[in-house]
Amino acid sequence: MSAPPRAVGAGATRLEGRLKVTGEARYAAEYPVPGLAVGAVVTSTIARGRITDMDTAAVLAMPGVIGVLNHGNAPRLADAGQGNLMVLQDDRVPYRGAVVALVVAETSEQARAGADALRVRYAEEPHDVVLTADHPRLYTPDHVNPALPTDSVTGDVEAGLARADVVVDAVYSTPTEQNNPMEPHSSTAWWADGRLTVIDSNQGSWVVRDTLATLFALDPDAVRVVSEHVGGGFGAKGRPRPQVVLAPMAARQLDRPVRVTLTRQQMFALVGYRTPTIQRVRLGADREGRLTALDHLACEQTSTVVEFAEQTAVFSRVMYATPNLRTRHRLVALDVPSPHWMRAPGEAPGSFAVESALDELAQACGIDPVELRVRNEPAVEPDRGLPFVSRNLVPCLREGAARFGWSARDPRPGVRRDGRLLRGTGVAAATYPARSTPSTASVTAEPDGRYTVRITASDIGTGARTALTQIAADELGVPLEDVRVLIGDSDFGPAQGAGGSLGTASWGWAIVKAARELRDRLAGAGVPAGGLTVRADTTEDIRALPDVVRHAFGAHFAEVVVDPASGEVRVPRLLGVYGVGRVVNPVTARSQLIGAMTMGLGMALLEEAVVDPQFGDYANHDLAGYHVPVNADVRSVEAHWVDERNDGLNPTGVKGLGEIGIVGTAAAIANAVWHATGVRHRDLPIRPDRVLAGGDR
Ligand code: MOS
Repeated sequence: MSAPPRAVGAGATRLEGRLKVTGEARYAAEYPVPGLAVGAVVTSTIARGRITDMDTAAVLAMPGVIGVLNHGNAPRLADAGQGNLMVLQDDRVPYRGAVVALVVAETSEQARAGADALRVRYAEEPHDVVLTADHPRLYTPDHVNPALPTDSVTGDVEAGLARADVVVDAVYSTPTEQNNPMEPHSSTAWWADGRLTVIDSNQGSWVVRDTLATLFALDPDAVRVVSEHVGGGFGAKGRPRPQVVLAPMAARQLDRPVRVTLTRQQMFALVGYRTPTIQRVRLGADREGRLTALDHLACEQTSTVVEFAEQTAVFSRVMYATPNLRTRHRLVALDVPSPHWMRAPGEAPGSFAVESALDELAQACGIDPVELRVRNEPAVEPDRGLPFVSRNLVPCLREGAARFGWSARDPRPGVRRDGRLLRGTGVAAATYPARSTPSTASVTAEPDGRYTVRITASDIGTGARTALTQIAADELGVPLEDVRVLIGDSDFGPAQGAGGSLGTASWGWAIVKAARELRDRLAGAGVPAGGLTVRADTTEDIRALPDVVRHAFGAHFAEVVVDPASGEVRVPRLLGVYGVGRVVNPVTARSQLIGAMTMGLGMALLEEAVVDPQFGDYANHDLAGYHVPVNADVRSVEAHWVDERNDGLNPTGVKGLGEIGIVGTAAAIANAVWHATGVRHRDLPIRPDRVLAGGDR
């Protein structure tokens, strides 16, 4: 059984593609369940205070309504350490849009009518919803997401700045950004035969299972969470959200299956978002552009319900050589919904600030911005002095520059006129961690000669199911058609979720390990009559990994056209080159990369949740008011990768590539806008009014 690899590296189309385009693939809200009732969430209309009264009787009298759950009657939950999931447990209102009731009815329409009709009275308290860099309640969290040091210092940045020939000292800001996958969060729950079963839309059924077991004080084996097809996540489904707690609560209380689906508007408060950031970056350099100091301070918000500290400054810990490096995070807990993961948490906003500052340094030193980055390439990770497993930033910059036509660039800003339009180009670098985490998988040799893989993986639209089938087929030495990969069911055992760009690396490892052992056990013998199943767990393998730095790297190039009359910025070209380890499937990999680059375009020019300090909430709560790129905004977007093989990474050589495409993209566009206009934009998004005003604010 030593057939050469055939599937990995080839562009297999999504195995479930036909099911999806024909509508046969079932999403969480589409499973038919006999006797189903439907719950509609009611959310708070004040930003802070207490619920004093709720007129449930009037709603219970409405057609089809069978229950109104609130803090007075809902089942009690045990604390799972995630305050945002402790729904309907007390009368406190911690932010506008928080869950205050669930109206359950025979139909979705009746439930929504009941939810709309429910009168809730509050004792309102003053709220505080605005992040500032000098907020009196800024504090230093114990760690930043996921468990990284809050502050890190090497050398002495003040001394390094003092002996610099050139200093850049600037403040950059990014707004609240919302991740809103096409498929809303939905959960369908029922209790039967001593078990809780939930059909849920999430990025990882295992963590949902464990969390529900804790909240409802159940044996974890008494909970099953199924999520076969998921219509996008971007981090918003990376952890259980309120609907997956509300559905089992209502199902228990009413003794029937209950489905709870969030509305689009409710998703803007209940499923996490990217914190706004205010970042001060100070760079010192000698005349040749070699960094003498890098100081990066990030201020950001969390909620009063649960702490989430975005790891914004960690980008600076891996990027550039400097003897004096300081990275710090400060947080303030406001009366706002809880921020959480959104594609490339940390690296996405952090790279905007630092990669913009480097462009300012290149300008100040009179050095080409690609060359400046090459000059500051470190031999080891600057923060801890550890070696990189591989680092292909310079090859990505060089190849990107060649493909983009960078060498012909005139460095002067504001001089390329095209009628009344101004043209410019910009570059920025990218990185993202390339981790693997413990997972389990089973592989079964079926009596008919085919194989079945079972793993609690999630395919949130990435093509993960297809990539895992390719990996399994090669390891088993059989064609793709002989392998069936079943995912999205917590009964398959513990596994990493689809997040942190570590799905394929983590799941692929468990599958390879199980497949190898299965091959060994089958060697020389046929498949037994009942088939043969081997389970593998990578916990020990991952614990034994050497202490080296595993990161993917990349380079982004952007061309913009600016209309000085309207302030409009267009992006005719985006080009990225990446060092992301082995690419399992070029079709789905390219889709991930150009999708993330497109999201970076949105971050640069469009995306902004606008806070209303009086109202105490974000004013735009839908995809009409919250702008994301549409077809007309997206022109040429190219993704390429350099050939990269890694030892000491994982058995598949995969680094993960779901997030790196959004890292640095906004900076490349902002740098191109400077090159076009001569005006530096340090606040995102680069809206027409900001372009017209000629810079910040
Ligand atoms: Mo993604 S923000 O890693 O779930």
